[in-house]
Amino acid sequence: MSDELLNIRDLNVHFPVNRGLFKKSDDYVKAVNGVSLSVNKGETIGIVGESGCGKSTLARTIVGLEKPTSGDILFEGESITSYNAKQMHQLRRDIQMVFQDPFTSLNPRMKVGDIIAAPLRAYNKTNHLERRVKELMELVGLNPDDHYNRLPHEFSGGQRQRIGIARAIALEPKLIICDEPVSALDVSVQAQVINLLEDLQKELNITYVFIAHDLSLIKHIADKVGVMYLGEMMEMSDSDSFYRNARHPYTNALLSAIPLPDPDREKNREQIVLNGELPSPANPPSGCVFHTRCPLARDYCKENTPLMETKGSNDHYVSCFFPIESDTLDEFGKSVGKQPD
Ligand SMILES: Nc1ncnc2c1ncn2[C@@H]1O[C@H](COP(=O)(O)OP(=O)(O)OP(=O)(O)O)[C@@H](O)[C@H]1O
Ligand code: SF4
Ligand SMILES: [Mg+2]
Repeated sequence: MSDELLNIRDLNVHFPVNRGLFKKSDDYVKAVNGVSLSVNKGETIGIVGESGCGKSTLARTIVGLEKPTSGDILFEGESITSYNAKQMHQLRRDIQMVFQDPFTSLNPRMKVGDIIAAPLRAYNKTNHLERRVKELMELVGLNPDDHYNRLPHEFSGGQRQRIGIARAIALEPKLIICDEPVSALDVSVQAQVINLLEDLQKELNITYVFIAHDLSLIKHIADKVGVMYLGEMMEMSDSDSFYRNARHPYTNALLSAIPLPDPDREKNREQIVLNGELPSPANPPSGCVFHTRCPLARDYCKENTPLMETKGSNDHYVSCFFPIESDTLDEFGKSVGKQPD
């Protein structure tokens, strides 16, 4: 039996640009444009990119909250893109979501016990309901006796995210899409929540799609990493190869922004600052979408569109005509050597 849980093939999610009342639009925001990825059971794929690059749209499409324009999503080998409402309802037991903002994603008028019980009630899993909810609270580090009857506003951001996680694992899902689950939390709390997610993964064999802004945040949790830019995947590989042999100029710039632990080395290195502004996803550049900001761009890149291809190592995909030579990176993925001619 295959270990693959999720396989996304050439996914496009395009939204019509609103040109005002009654005016039909021929323009589209290509929020997700030709994205492919796969993730095995019990693994974590990290998806990183700047604001507006399509991370949440990808997440929402996997859980069925957006319809793909084209492409396919396979879950346990079966296409789910044309599921009807009833099939989707069943699937939602297996695919859950943890949201970025623990302040708005919990109903402020519901007690914590009821919030966590809601998915169990929705699927008629009401046997020993209170006991099950209290077990879940314990699993995520909440105090079942003290917290069960409290309201969300009585909790800190980190605790609220624990409530959101308890709700997400209540139905024992196979896949959880975490859409920037720690971005709204203090740095000191971020690691605690990530550790909790890792512990739950080991205990319950959950697979994660973990979305983040920051490559350093997912370095330890992700088995595989993908970088998105303007709706497209720029680079994807297993975590080791990604952080040691990043080949795409965009990844290289993102990695150069991560502070090095050694202050002497940190002092001596340069951060790669990208040219210009992030283009609008409604009007992306021609050719390689990154060419307007790429330090290595050539005229060829303005006219021609690179494809995600393996460059050298097997499962390391890069969408670039002139990728950086892999042996020019230090152990934190920072380029230290020459660029291609
Ligand atoms: N329902 C929608 N209708 C029209 N455009 C949309 C819709 N949802 C998203 N978009 C657009 O699609 C693009 C990608 O948005 P998305 O929210 O997926 O990005 P993101 O990577 O999650 O950004 P952030 O890091 O800010 O959360 C943006 O330009 C956004 O404005
Ligand atoms: S194809 Fe050209 S513009 Fe695009 S990332 Fe590679 S070098 Fe830069
Ligand atoms: Mg988002």
